[in-house]
Amino acid sequence: MRNMSLELLLSPFLFAVLLSSAHARIGYFWHITDLHLDTIYSMEGDARKSCWQLPRSGGASNGMSVAAASSPETPGAFGDYHCDSPWSLIESAVKTMKAKQGDNVEFVLWTGDALSHSAQPLSELKQHEILRNITELLGRSFSSQFIFPVLGHEDGTPHKYKQMGELWRHWLPSEALLTFEQGGYYSIEQTKSRLRIVALNTNFMRHDPKVPQANGNGIRWPAEYYTEPRASSSAQVPDEDLQQAEQQWLWLEEVLTKSRNKQETVYIVGHMPPGADERHLGPQHNGQLTFTERNNKRYLELVRKYASVIQGQFFGHLHSDTFRIVYDEHGTPISWLMIAPSIAPRKSGIGSNNPALRLYKFDTGNGQVVDYTQYWMDLPLANRANEPLWLPEYNLTHYYALNDISAIALHNFAERFTGSDTSWFSRYYRANAVRHQSGSPCLGLCMLNHYCAITRLDYDEFRQCLETEQLSLHSHAAIAALSSCCALFSLCVALSFVCCWHYTLPWMLHMLDTSATTTTTTTATTTSTPTATATNMDYDGQCEVAPTEPNAGFITAIPGLLLPAPNMRMGVRSRRQRMSQLANL
Ligand SMILES: *[C@@H]1O[C@H](CO)[C@@H](O)[C@H](O)[C@H]1NC(C)=O
Ligand SMILES: *[C@@H]1O[C@H](CO)[C@@H](O)[C@H](O)[C@H]1NC(C)=O
Repeated sequence: MRNMSLELLLSPFLFAVLLSSAHARIGYFWHITDLHLDTIYSMEGDARKSCWQLPRSGGASNGMSVAAASSPETPGAFGDYHCDSPWSLIESAVKTMKAKQGDNVEFVLWTGDALSHSAQPLSELKQHEILRNITELLGRSFSSQFIFPVLGHEDGTPHKYKQMGELWRHWLPSEALLTFEQGGYYSIEQTKSRLRIVALNTNFMRHDPKVPQANGNGIRWPAEYYTEPRASSSAQVPDEDLQQAEQQWLWLEEVLTKSRNKQETVYIVGHMPPGADERHLGPQHNGQLTFTERNNKRYLELVRKYASVIQGQFFGHLHSDTFRIVYDEHGTPISWLMIAPSIAPRKSGIGSNNPALRLYKFDTGNGQVVDYTQYWMDLPLANRANEPLWLPEYNLTHYYALNDISAIALHNFAERFTGSDTSWFSRYYRANAVRHQSGSPCLGLCMLNHYCAITRLDYDEFRQCLETEQLSLHSHAAIAALSSCCALFSLCVALSFVCCWHYTLPWMLHMLDTSATTTTTTTATTTSTPTATATNMDYDGQCEVAPTEPNAGFITAIPGLLLPAPNMRMGVRSRRQRMSQLANL
């Protein structure tokens, strides 16, 4: 009786609470990155020369414009795969953000590299003017929202932090301005959701007192980017910068500790992500990296330590659409990073992509990311139509069939790359360059490169992953081929070795060759990096394969690789068929 009345009393109240919370909790935020506005982009320019209209050198143009005659490619109104962004592209992106979501956004993350590579030789005054123009465009369009800007590597040197803080002061509260003007980093509390946004200056991650900065700049742009020699790319990192870099680390840990004590949740936002670039094939050594090895380890340690408060990590810089998983020391996935593709279509030395914008959907109560919608522009189509056509490309949960966005769900998804159904990797790969097709399909080692970059943020583990998974491709292929070839002939083998001599001999030799190296490397990995053993665990279900045999699942996954080891042909045709099926979805 008493229970009943209490229930009756409570139920309308509970209902109201549930109703209001269900309505109030969903919020949105945009993530835009790598705008790379090139103010000298010209539709009359040369697509092979950054879409610039360069003055003819030598002046020997006696009516015969050879260059123009031999280049049928003229830059489009909204950009070109070989160039940075024209103003029209950026303007259309911002208009689209406004049109798609209006004021129904909590904030906008803007993760750096607003300036083009072409801006580097420009005067600082001019660079600042470009930044101001973009800032004003965003400010006009999102007059009642906060935009959280993050410094990219093209955006500013330490002595400009104050000037840039001035530019962005209407978005940054005074506490944030204080650290921004000192070091280009800050944190902001979203009181509504007990969410703290921590904006890092990842330029400092390239500084390491222990590693001499060989060329001062890990990224080498082609020479044609510079119309005049670069002014100040000092090979030596000034002590002051190193001190500031150290200060940021200390500050970051302090912020994370406070957030944990106050039971806030945290988004870490930055320009350059830790770990390897998934599109840069092969082991990546210092000079190609963004974070130095030491800073990379340091960052990962912090994420492991504070994973319980870190709800998400958001980065740009790579220009590609990808993600990363951070594991704890036992190999359990504990945190994730999302890397959003760029608005600019060009990535020097790596590839191109279609312009992209991302809209996140999150629970404003606890910061939990629920989904995102990726928007894209089909660049050739938009140029042909002379209209900035921005369309939804996909929704994360739907596209990858995820139940939620968590480290575990993303881990299970990444494990599907190495499963027998290659359509999952094809899906991911199609989105990776925002549906820009670069020609050759990504198979074998290319696929492995993505898989290892996603699941091994530590550089050593990444290289080991490439190496051991590759070795095990060979040895498992050998075992599988050997067993299948000789299963029928086992009696024959026992009785007379000659019977299947021509099958076994090459394999025996190969086995002797590879098994020795493989076993040592594999055991080394399993003991030193627990993640290697744990990654074949399906956290929703049981083990897909014996966890002591780290790479077995990977191998059986790729039928094409069960060919003799030196012949690394893959099921190209079936993959193509699946890709074309996907394309017809
Ligand atoms: C900034 O915007 C103004 C007004 O639209 C324009 O005149 C100026 O050329 C722009 N500056 C640069 C560097 O593009
Ligand atoms: C993504 O989800 C939204 C609603 O959450 C829906 O309106 C939209 O059509 C979806 N887009 C795609 C590309 O699936």
